[in-house]
Amino acid sequence: MILIVDFGAQTTHLIGRRVLELGAKVVIIPPNDLEKALKQKPKGIILSGGPASVYEKGSPSIPSSIFTLGIPMLGICYGEQLMMKNTGGKVMQGKKTEYGPAKITIRKNSPLFKNTATAFTVWMSHGDEVVKIPKNFTRLATTETIPYAAVADERKKLYGIQFHPELVHTQFGEQVLKNFLTISGLKVKKQGINRSSVENMIRDVKDSLGNNKVIVALSGGVDSSVAALLVHKAVGRNLTAIYIDSGLMRYGETKTLEKIFKKHYRMKVLVVNARKDFLKALGNASDPEKKRKAIGKMFIKVFEKEAKKLKAMYFVQGTIYPDVIESAGSKHSKNIKSHHNVGGLPEKMNLTLVEPLRNFYKDEVRKIGKILGLPDEITQRQPFPGPGLAVRIIGAVTEQKLDILRRADHIFTEEVRKARLDRSIWQFFAVHTGVLTTGVRGDNRAYGETIALRALVAKDAMSAHWADLPYKLLNTVSNRIVNEIREVNRVLYDITNKPPATMEWE
Ligand code: XMP
Repeated sequence: MILIVDFGAQTTHLIGRRVLELGAKVVIIPPNDLEKALKQKPKGIILSGGPASVYEKGSPSIPSSIFTLGIPMLGICYGEQLMMKNTGGKVMQGKKTEYGPAKITIRKNSPLFKNTATAFTVWMSHGDEVVKIPKNFTRLATTETIPYAAVADERKKLYGIQFHPELVHTQFGEQVLKNFLTISGLKVKKQGINRSSVENMIRDVKDSLGNNKVIVALSGGVDSSVAALLVHKAVGRNLTAIYIDSGLMRYGETKTLEKIFKKHYRMKVLVVNARKDFLKALGNASDPEKKRKAIGKMFIKVFEKEAKKLKAMYFVQGTIYPDVIESAGSKHSKNIKSHHNVGGLPEKMNLTLVEPLRNFYKDEVRKIGKILGLPDEITQRQPFPGPGLAVRIIGAVTEQKLDILRRADHIFTEEVRKARLDRSIWQFFAVHTGVLTTGVRGDNRAYGETIALRALVAKDAMSAHWADLPYKLLNTVSNRIVNEIREVNRVLYDITNKPPATMEWE
């Protein structure tokens, strides 16, 4: 078993998942439980990253004695810094914060870097850095900006890395974790989601819901579609899928969903038109968190009303793991966004919440959907945020802005599809920036809107690289948007990675 000590990184669970996939058992614990958890005789210990600074008062820590027990340890980011600080090294605030890709060069052979290249791309996300290492440690790798990108005390099998091997954008990240498991004396055997694990999930849902009435929130995204079908397979006619038309959906969304789920799957689907309610709830709000909360609240309100009519007892949502962690699921992690399907839930809900996909990442959810028999049209759909287009309109949401954004987004979608790039991109969408700029139309001055385009390459929601779309495609999209949508004067392309930017603008 591998123990993972959670210092509040957004990616702690992702580390766990990677280790699980490599065939090891995993237990994730808060720092205070470490000494107790040692009784379970872990073969290795991973110290996660975290948002705090090791020299900050009250920052989470573990006793220095842990590093002398002879158990192999891997400190990642904050974990590395803590390992250094607690064994005699020094950590300071870096001259520059470093987020996203960096090139690492291996300076010394180590079992930790077995079967990797001598230089490769890793992903960083840190402000502090190690400036001095203890006597018994050696430097394994550097980057252009940091001297201790990887360090080791090979004799004691203590390893520290500043980068994140759990992120898919880190080359050889899985190999580094694999190597650490081997160092810990574990046999590596890759595992994943398969038919029998999905059948077990259906059985679990069936057992926990019994013969009661169930409703599911169908939003049109991959997550809620997979959750709906999973529960449909488990409880059949006891399930009613409720689709709330919030008016914040993409072009043609409602019709497509009705066609697939009502006609094809013969699922009980109730379409609720609540467009006016959502706009009213949003009012003039322009703060992203206020908007998210207002939508979340309204979403639940409409649901409760419908659920009452249906006399349902359970409420199924397609919440997936990144939604949970980004709403501060872990004790030490920071709240990045209140996802409407977690953060906005009222304390006293009359329905019992069921979230069958809560422990899974997007690529796993897609796999589950495929095993359940969902067509690629659904499983390969782009993720769509619960608060919909409201978080792609910067500032207050109005019907007119929604209309402009929907049309721009539709043009972008059509062109990316035409170029057959939709499958290789994780997500692409338009953003209504709210910035008005000057233009010229038919010799007249125009003062109009700015639309931003965002396209991302990613494997899960935790990290992403902006997509290298062909200029020709960007040019076509830009021309079409400014020509077909009179209100728009300018089109921008967003070239920021996650981290530091999130995928959605709000
Ligand atoms: P961010 O913007 O946090 O997005 O980097 C990560 C992924 O999550 C989607 N997203 C949401 N999904 N409810 C959801 O179900 C939400 O409130 C929400 N906000 C963002 C986003 O589209 C991206 O795929």
